[in-house]
Amino acid sequence: MISQQEIIARQHRLLAQCEPNSVCLIPAASMVTRSRDTEYLFRQDSDFWYLTEFNEPDTWLLLSNHEQYGRPYTGMVCQPKDPHREVWEGRRLGAQMAVARFDLDEAFELDELPEVLMEWMLGHDNVYFAQGHNRQADTLVQGALDALRQAPKENVAPGCLRDIRPLIHEMRLYKSACEVAVMKAAGQISAAAHKRAMRFAKAGVYEYQLEAEIHHEFAMAGARSPAYATIVGSGANACILHYTENSKALAESELVLIDAGAEYKGYAADITRTFPVSGTFSEPQKAIYNLVLKAQQKALDFITPSVTLGEATALTIEVITEGLVELGILTGTVAENLEQETWRNYFMHGLGHFLGLDVHDVGDYRVDGEERPLQPGMVLTVEPGIYIAPDAPVPEQYRGIGVRIEDNVALTATGIENLTADVPKTVSEIEALMKG
Ligand code: GLY
Ligand code: MN
Ligand code: MN
Repeated sequence: MISQQEIIARQHRLLAQCEPNSVCLIPAASMVTRSRDTEYLFRQDSDFWYLTEFNEPDTWLLLSNHEQYGRPYTGMVCQPKDPHREVWEGRRLGAQMAVARFDLDEAFELDELPEVLMEWMLGHDNVYFAQGHNRQADTLVQGALDALRQAPKENVAPGCLRDIRPLIHEMRLYKSACEVAVMKAAGQISAAAHKRAMRFAKAGVYEYQLEAEIHHEFAMAGARSPAYATIVGSGANACILHYTENSKALAESELVLIDAGAEYKGYAADITRTFPVSGTFSEPQKAIYNLVLKAQQKALDFITPSVTLGEATALTIEVITEGLVELGILTGTVAENLEQETWRNYFMHGLGHFLGLDVHDVGDYRVDGEERPLQPGMVLTVEPGIYIAPDAPVPEQYRGIGVRIEDNVALTATGIENLTADVPKTVSEIEALMKG
């Protein structure tokens, strides 16, 4: 659990990085229409959540480091209390209650927003805001700035509109101990769900029924939603990287690839496992599976503070290329294949990505044109795969096999902690679980 103290410390750290006399304007997400008058399940904006852990739509967090206050000064614009709307749409905290809950200096109601934005910008030199992220918010901020610029006689508008994202995203890239603990819980919940799916799988079960097993396990462990659309791809569907139709029945001789992670207290897990529907790998399936596992293990053994994701990727590519040559899937020498990058036909995505509030989390992978060394506090996925299309020019027994193995690791001072180690991963572990 992230404490209120940690949330407020984030707000203060953000303000401390701003130029003097700055105001930060951070809008929440809005509801999104699904059809006519129904809406998608609300998902808070990740930057707003990071700075508030408040799950209401159409709210604004306001922060100022103006010298007149001599300390961080904070405000919020909230949806107004409205008995009628609350009967239909749900409870609202309201401005009055928000002051105590978020330890604010001031709180306002949404109908005051245009004036509040003007008042909060007034007398500041800089406005920090994520322009282009939320069209409605852009219009409101631009409108308030325009109104201030048109003020007669006095020049009271801030001179500089700055992008707030690099500051927040650099903070989000480095997870605190509490964040890593929450992400570990997300990993454990997701691991249990993968095990449940392995036990449930058998020929005739539909991919969406495995998806339902997974989501059931998430919810029963306290995670209402997946962190992204769950992928259950059996047979050649495993070769479609973001397959989400999940509509086919599993067949006895196939592998099934499941890429699923829970969103827990806002944080994502992102696990992939691939296993045989029958509970036993065939020899060609085992050969591809063990090659992906070897590549992943190579990367996991290598990743530690100060190395780069690019270096880990290069090692993985070497293992995969050597293995594909050995199996006769690639022809020619290993050196020739590495030179010609033929592995791209079978491993067409990156080795991993940052993970956090977003599944493909924020944070720059390159700094000053150079690949960024990994550092303690970063959390990333390690997810090599091999995908052999049904019509690939390879020995027949390998066609239509898709395997990915994905774990989530947190960088520590001395190495990594695997947050998703609870799901079986070797051939014998998987076969034992499925037989049990
Ligand atoms: N689940 C999306 C990914 O693995 O990147
Ligand atoms: Mn994934
Ligand atoms: Mn991933």
